[in-house]
Amino acid sequence: MIVEKIRKIPKFCLRNVFSFFAKLSHWVYVFFRHAELNLTKLYLPVLDGNDACRLRASTERLQIIKREIKNLGTKDKYSVLDVGCNNGYFVFDLAREGNFCIGIDAFPVFLDVGKFIIERQKIKSVGLVEMFVSPHNVDAFPDVDILIFLSVFQKLAKQYGFHETSSILIKLWQKTKLMMFFEMPDSLETVEIFKDDLPEMGNNKTECNKFIEIFLKKLLGPKEIKILGEFEMEYRQEKRTLFLLKK
Ligand SMILES: C[S@@+](CC[C@H](N)C(=O)[O-])C[C@H]1O[C@@H](n2cnc3c(N)ncnc32)[C@H](O)[C@@H]1O
Repeated sequence: MIVEKIRKIPKFCLRNVFSFFAKLSHWVYVFFRHAELNLTKLYLPVLDGNDACRLRASTERLQIIKREIKNLGTKDKYSVLDVGCNNGYFVFDLAREGNFCIGIDAFPVFLDVGKFIIERQKIKSVGLVEMFVSPHNVDAFPDVDILIFLSVFQKLAKQYGFHETSSILIKLWQKTKLMMFFEMPDSLETVEIFKDDLPEMGNNKTECNKFIEIFLKKLLGPKEIKILGEFEMEYRQEKRTLFLLKK
């Protein structure tokens, strides 16, 4: 009897009802995820401003990245891959400008925040993918114009070791057609947990920057490499240097 009645309901109505409940359950899930994540501990800004409580100089880094992409001037729109994108903050604005953007992160708690922002701000041309980047899947990654690889090297080095991570970086660079933004902690200022996985880089910031620059030059052989700036972390005494590598 009930089945008969349901059959008589037009299909598009049923689809809308199902879609409503699917979305509702998703947002209930996201809500509890947020509670678990504790929004006060977010790493990157959520909406437009510096609303993350554990701030990094993210808006500044984003402005510089946007400026460099604009200066490229080779195309109107680019494909962008952000590896270790966290909540996707860096790709949202680039997607708003019409670039095709993919953000990859291993942890769904961050991506859920990003998906919430995408839906709320109706951002097109961006996809957030939950995936552990690893030596086993990096070969299958797509070619992109621009790679964003910020503060994820040390995390991969912890998971796979320094040399395997260097190999991952080589493969990602081979898949990058135009340029890469790169940042990693240095052995001088980083916290103990990452020191074991990074080589000794020098006794001051200048030496460490030189070390990273030479390391990237030898490993990847870019046509051009330059330092775009040093950016603070508010939640600990550490600055990280943002590099730009061009093909
Ligand atoms: C220190 S945060 C950097 C976030 C952002 N790129 C930035 O610079 O502000 C490192 C990010 O890498 C992600 N991550 C760690 N290991 C990963 C892996 N194997 N594959 C993909 N993402 C990973 C973490 O979830 C985290 O969001």
